[in-house]
Formats: sequence, structure tokens, C-alpha cells
Amino acid sequence: MNQETIVVVDFGGQYNQLIARRVRENNVYCEVYPYSKALAKIKEIQPRGIIFTGGPNSAYEANAPKMDAEVFELGIPVLGLCYGMQLMAQSLGGNVAKADTKEFGKTQTHFETDSLLFKGLPKEAITWMSHVDFVEKLPQGFEKIAYTDNCPVAAMQHVEKKFYAMQYHPEVLHTENGTAMLRNFLYEVCHCTGQWTMANYAKTAIEEIRTKVGDGKVVLALSGGVDSSVVAALISKAIGSQLTCIFVDHGLMRKNEGDEVEQAFANSGMKFIRVDAEKRFLDKLAGVSDPEQKRKIIGEEFIRVFEEEGRKIGAVDFLAQGTIYPDVIESGEGDAAVIKSHHNVGGLPAVVDFKGLIEPLRNLFKDEVRQLGLEVGLAEYLVWRQPFPGPGLAIRVMGEITKEKLDILRDADYVFRDEIAKAGLDKSINQYFAVLTTTRTVGVMGDFRTYDYVLALRGVTTTDFMTADWARIPYEVLDKISGRIINEVDHINRIVYDITSKPPGTIEWE
Ligand code: XMP
Repeated sequence: MNQETIVVVDFGGQYNQLIARRVRENNVYCEVYPYSKALAKIKEIQPRGIIFTGGPNSAYEANAPKMDAEVFELGIPVLGLCYGMQLMAQSLGGNVAKADTKEFGKTQTHFETDSLLFKGLPKEAITWMSHVDFVEKLPQGFEKIAYTDNCPVAAMQHVEKKFYAMQYHPEVLHTENGTAMLRNFLYEVCHCTGQWTMANYAKTAIEEIRTKVGDGKVVLALSGGVDSSVVAALISKAIGSQLTCIFVDHGLMRKNEGDEVEQAFANSGMKFIRVDAEKRFLDKLAGVSDPEQKRKIIGEEFIRVFEEEGRKIGAVDFLAQGTIYPDVIESGEGDAAVIKSHHNVGGLPAVVDFKGLIEPLRNLFKDEVRQLGLEVGLAEYLVWRQPFPGPGLAIRVMGEITKEKLDILRDADYVFRDEIAKAGLDKSINQYFAVLTTTRTVGVMGDFRTYDYVLALRGVTTTDFMTADWARIPYEVLDKISGRIINEVDHINRIVYDITSKPPGTIEWE
């Protein structure tokens, strides 16, 4: 489907996914592979170009991640970034050494502008550096094309072989013209033509789904989250009523959310089933206060409900899932500690008999998924929806869950979201929600003593949800929110704002 591909070789740097996203933002498709598997993939795919990422190692260490030097003999352009540049230098006969002064952060950099990499760009700019090693001796045939006060080779090239490298990180926004440099590599060096757009993707994906499904039946567990909503819209466009979406309403959604999901999909041409399972879930959760236990119960009950509904539909040929590219990249590693057992509505392949999986978002980053959603006509409020965890409000009501507590939280959370949207902060704060604590405190309202719950507000800014900072919501906005919640929602008499970043906190409280 993609004639024009760039392979990003992952050496463990922290910005690797960002590099891939920048390539795609420039309308060129790319795939990320760990360095150990990349050479075989490169030979198979025959990409237009290769990008080596940064990484935490030193290229001269014996056990540093390396690639077979064969990669330099394939006639494919290579761009090395940071560690990738040092590896290129070391592999091709240059020398890498520890620098006397390490460079970190914004650095004034001087460029030789006749390099294709810097075509149309100024001779001086700020770049983002993060290194302790440097290229001390260039490999044969290379020339230096940029330098800083402390780094004699900030970029290098071998024009004939089309090898280019930068010591700084062009993918981070602190590097001035960084995106333009990557673009120059893609278009000037690799001669890409820029066919990767979500409009093209939608067309091809719809065709592929039609061919694969034929006249078969497809089932999708629809949560109303961005990913499963986009999958629903896309597949529905491809095969209409051959798709059945099962929306399990577990009663742990936010205020009005179940109805919104139903409204968005019920009349869209697909078959839409809303299962009202609130009572089942609340009965199972009664008396349970341990967070992991709650998550397990919800995950299992979900599968059971889905299974029952699946059986009613009868023979199903395909199960559709909203797996996205970061899940695919990250599942390559897999030995990180389990902090919370995440439950994803999409991940239920074992529960119904089916012939195959349909995962049309498997190669897309989140921003591409949203773009695709708009392309296939999904409502904006669904496209821009903030993430909402599978276990829903069950992990935002601390401790034991009751319908009464859920309703209190729903009302308070609604006011919070309403005021954030009114203040125009709903796109800049990536996730925000209210948490009902188990703590009750004494207050006074009118002339009466109250003894009610403490509500916590949480807002975070993040790009990847792996790390996050607490959002600096202006005091006036917090003031308004606090006033409204106390006045409009019964049983809350105190409000606190969570100022913990992640780590050490997680985004959700449970
Ligand atoms: P934490 O709390 O682990 O959350 O910092 C990171 C992001 O994941 C969301 N989250 C979940 N998403 N199933 C999901 O689909 C889950 O069980 C789950 N738990 C947390 C959380 O809302 C945040 O966006």
C-alpha cells in the first residue's frame, strides 16, 4: 500500500516516536523497528531512506547496540541522529570520543548551507543538543557541515553515498528549522513525493477492508473513545450494515456519555447495540475497594457481556480492534513493571469465534487517528475526546463504589469539564477529571454544619501519557469551578487540586 517508506531504526532514544511522527507529518510513511530486527526489514521493504535514532549508549562501548555494516552497502540514503550519527561515524572508520564539555539544551550552531540537508535555511540557528560523546575524527569521504563552540562536528555528510548525520535532535521543536532539515532529507536526498495523507489512507483502508471482509460479518466493541469510534466510522463506511458495534454501557461513564455515544452511532448505517449493563457491573463491584480488584472485575464482566451479545449475533467472521501504532511499537519491549493492569475495550479476541482480526489503525499515531476520524466524517467532539480509561469512573470513585457516589462524581466532573471548556482550556490540558475521595470533612453552609466528601480535581499536560505535568489552571478558573461545584452538587463541601506530576504520581488516582 505504501510505495514510499522510510525505516526508522530504534536505538533506544527517548524521542524515537517523535522522529517517526515528524516524518509522517511531512507526508512520508515510515515504520519503526528495533536495531536488532531492522536490517532484515530494510532488505525486505527496500525503503527510500533510513533514519538512525539517538540512544543512551556510547558507540565505542563493546556492548553498544550496533547494526551490521551491510546497511551502508545497500545504496539507500541514511540519516544518523545523535547516537545514530556516532554509530555511523564509528562503523565507517571514524572515531568517537568523550567530550571535555558535554552539551545539553539549546546551542548556537553554525551551518554550511550548501548541504542539501540545510537547503533554503539560514547559516546560524539554535539546535537542541544532548550528548557527552562527539565525533572526533570523520570517516573517510565525509565532510563536516555544521559545528558549535564545543562540538567540532555537529553535522556531517558523504554526498555521493547519501549519508547524512546530525549530532543535535532535529525532531524536537527547540531545534530551529529541525523539521525543515528532516524534510530536506526526505525530499532532497531520498526524493520522496509525499503521498502519505489521511485522505489517501482512508481511501485505501476502505478498499482493503471491503476486499478482506467480502460479504462477511464484523463485530467491534465500541467504547466511545477516539480509537474505537474512528474504527467504527471507517469500517462502517466500508461495509455498512455488515458491521455490528456492541457498546457495553457499564454504568461507569461520565454524565450523558452513554447517550452521546448512542446518538453518534445509532443511525449511522451500521448495526448498533447498546447493552445496559449498569446493574450487573455495580452488583459485581459492591463492597470491593481494592483498585486492582475493581479493574479485574470490570475487565472480566466486560468480556462476559460481550461474549453473550456476540453469541446472539451468531457466526462472526472478523473482530475489529482499535490497536494503534504506539501499542505495536511498545509491545516489542514488554518487560516493564505492571503499574496498573490496563483494560482496553478493544482487546477481546478470545471471546467470540472469528476468522480474523481487522485493525485499521495499527500503523497510525494518535494524531493521525484523529485526522482520519475527521476525514471519514466523525463528529468533532468524538475526534477530540480526551482519553477515558476502560474501567471508567470506577477508578475515580476511591474505594467502594455505589451508584450514589458515582452520581455525585458525574455531576461534579460535568461542572469541571464545562468550566474548562468555557475557559478555552480544553485543547491545551490533555486530560482533566474529578476524583471523589473517601475523605469527609467538616464545613459550614448557611448556618449549618456539613460533613461531606472532599472532591479532588486533576488536570495534566502530556504528549504521550507516560509522563505528565500537572496543568497550571489559572486561579480564577479554579475559583469558578470550586464555587459552582459546591453550590450545584450535593454532598461535596471541599475541593482540592492535585499538583502531582507523573512520575511520581500516575494520572488516574487508582
Ligand atoms: P495512568 O493512570 O496509568 O494513566 O498514568 C495513563 C493513561 O491511561 C489511561 N488509563 C487507562 N486507559 N484502560 C485504558 O484504556 C485502563 O485501564 C486505564 N487506566 C488508565 C489514563 O486515563 C491516562 O490517560
